[in-house]
Amino acid sequence: MVFAKSSPHKTTCWPGSLVLSKLPDKIVMASGNAGKLREIARILGDLNINIVPQSDFGVEDADETGTTFVENALIKARHAVAATGLPAIADDSGLAVDALGGRPGVYSSRYSGPDATDQTNIDKLLAELDGVPDAERAAAFHCVSCLVMPGVQEPIVAQGEWRGSILKAKRGDGGFGYDPVFFDAETGKTAAELGDEEKNARSHRGQALKELARQLHAL
Ligand code: IMP
Repeated sequence: MVFAKSSPHKTTCWPGSLVLSKLPDKIVMASGNAGKLREIARILGDLNINIVPQSDFGVEDADETGTTFVENALIKARHAVAATGLPAIADDSGLAVDALGGRPGVYSSRYSGPDATDQTNIDKLLAELDGVPDAERAAAFHCVSCLVMPGVQEPIVAQGEWRGSILKAKRGDGGFGYDPVFFDAETGKTAAELGDEEKNARSHRGQALKELARQLHAL
């Protein structure tokens, strides 16, 4: 597996075996999320690759049965490759809170149950952290992005991490998920108080995508 780790502060790469001899001209995005598609198209824009959402091929979301971000990203990408016969990009992300032993992690979107909403997830998170002092509320968003090629065993995998801490109450109206309680010390803002460009420049997802783009450029 070609695996690279990226963060706003450091980038480390572990080279693996050669995956591609040339760039594909069309890639399926294994997500129906319009925001993710826009972000990928922007970051990979100069590679001249046509990026098409899997919904254009009538492909449904895969079941996220993995126990790690890498497993889930690969499950999603392989599902899209199997359904379309085209190369696919997928990502998986979530919030890991130190005081909760890394929870909610891969279960971030369903943390408060099968009918979870962003609000019920935040309510549960704040309840679990009730009484935990400011100094022990460290957390990180994680994202793994991958590219899987049809008939090629080895994927290209990149990851990003954004460290911050969990506030005791929500701040800001932007973003989604846990953004209103995720505090970024460098900007002094929550993720929900950052503009899209500012968030993408710092975020786990932006870092993982930039690292994936860097690996594609290097092919
Ligand atoms: P997925 O990667 O689309 O499966 O998202 C996993 C879940 O992690 C989301 O539903 C959110 O609850 C949380 N999450 C991932 N990235 C972010 C982010 O940038 N801000 C807030 N919550 C996030």
